[in-house]
Amino acid sequence: MKKKIVSLLIAMTMVATMAAGCGSGDDTSKDKETTTDQESGGDKQSTPDDTKSDDTKTNDTKTDDTGSTDTDLSDKKVGVCIYQFSDNFMTLFRGELENYLVEQGFSKENIKIVDGANDQGTQSGQIDNFITEGVDVLIINPVNSSSAETITDKVVDANIPLVYINREPDENEEKRWEENNWNVTYVGCDARQSGTFQGEMIVDLGMDKIDLNKDGKVQYIMVQGDPENIDAQYRTEFSVKALEDAEWKVDCLSDQVGNWQQDQAQQIVANALGQHGENVEVVFCNNDAMALGALQAIDAAGRKVGEDIFLVGVDALSEALENVISGKMTGTVFNDHFSQSHSAADAAIKYIKGETNDHYIGCDYVKVTSENAQEVLDMVSGK
Ligand code: GAL
Repeated sequence: MKKKIVSLLIAMTMVATMAAGCGSGDDTSKDKETTTDQESGGDKQSTPDDTKSDDTKTNDTKTDDTGSTDTDLSDKKVGVCIYQFSDNFMTLFRGELENYLVEQGFSKENIKIVDGANDQGTQSGQIDNFITEGVDVLIINPVNSSSAETITDKVVDANIPLVYINREPDENEEKRWEENNWNVTYVGCDARQSGTFQGEMIVDLGMDKIDLNKDGKVQYIMVQGDPENIDAQYRTEFSVKALEDAEWKVDCLSDQVGNWQQDQAQQIVANALGQHGENVEVVFCNNDAMALGALQAIDAAGRKVGEDIFLVGVDALSEALENVISGKMTGTVFNDHFSQSHSAADAAIKYIKGETNDHYIGCDYVKVTSENAQEVLDMVSGK
């Protein structure tokens, strides 16, 4: 049901290549397929049931008349590592992931979700513990994507299939999974699309409306998530690129890191508005939590979104959607935690059943403006 509505909402345009925040970016375009299901062999890892040393675990996979397998998941253990529980978006993600895993037949007590507290050392210890416990599959949202190689090595050595979520490891790391036929995959959306959508929502309003000081350029502030994160890098680049692709001239007044956090963004935007005043025409935030902080600063400065400033975020948090509906945010981009968490769980289940997955499982973002914000809010709140 939710998936159906989401696909109705999906906007069609998407382009790739390079752009810049206040600095300049590299050409980072690469092609990615949306979705799964390609058979490939596996030499380093065999299926969990083949390799479990725990002999209380039996292979309880049955083949039905159609030849497809029916595995009892109720005794299977899932370890889930989240980079930081206090992150709003990851809270939605993990809630949906747990519910969906239970719906698929896992027992709640066999799904263990742990908080990495934004510390890679803490998370690495949690992964070691899951390996010692002998979980059947690991779902990992790494604190640092650059630690993926080390994480993959130890998880693969322990013969545990691995599904990375939300923070995409780099291309070389993904290549290793492919080359070695490891049971390792990544599930997430291509952040370039979300950046592009942010920029397009501004362009769609027209230069006349956005260029408040009529100098023929768009003056903007960029508030970035954490700089190691590919989502932050791509959203920063591609939001501006969409303006440049429309042949708009841009002028970056401030580009700072808000670490996905509302309070940090509030401070950054308050300072930037203090410094650049009426010249600020657009505020781009890499996520909605930061856009909510930006809005607090905009309100405090006596500015009015839609009239003398424009503000976009990403995620489609309920509070942000309410702001889009009431005109206090120009727009946001739905970061589909339903589809991402379900795809991650589905990939984990396939590994448990001894099947394989593609090494990249994608999904689409959806543009959200005042035109469809109510519809998206109803959908995310389950109406
Ligand atoms: C992004 C999301 C952010 C934050 C980040 C964490 O996809 O938009 O709000 O949750 O992931 O990695």
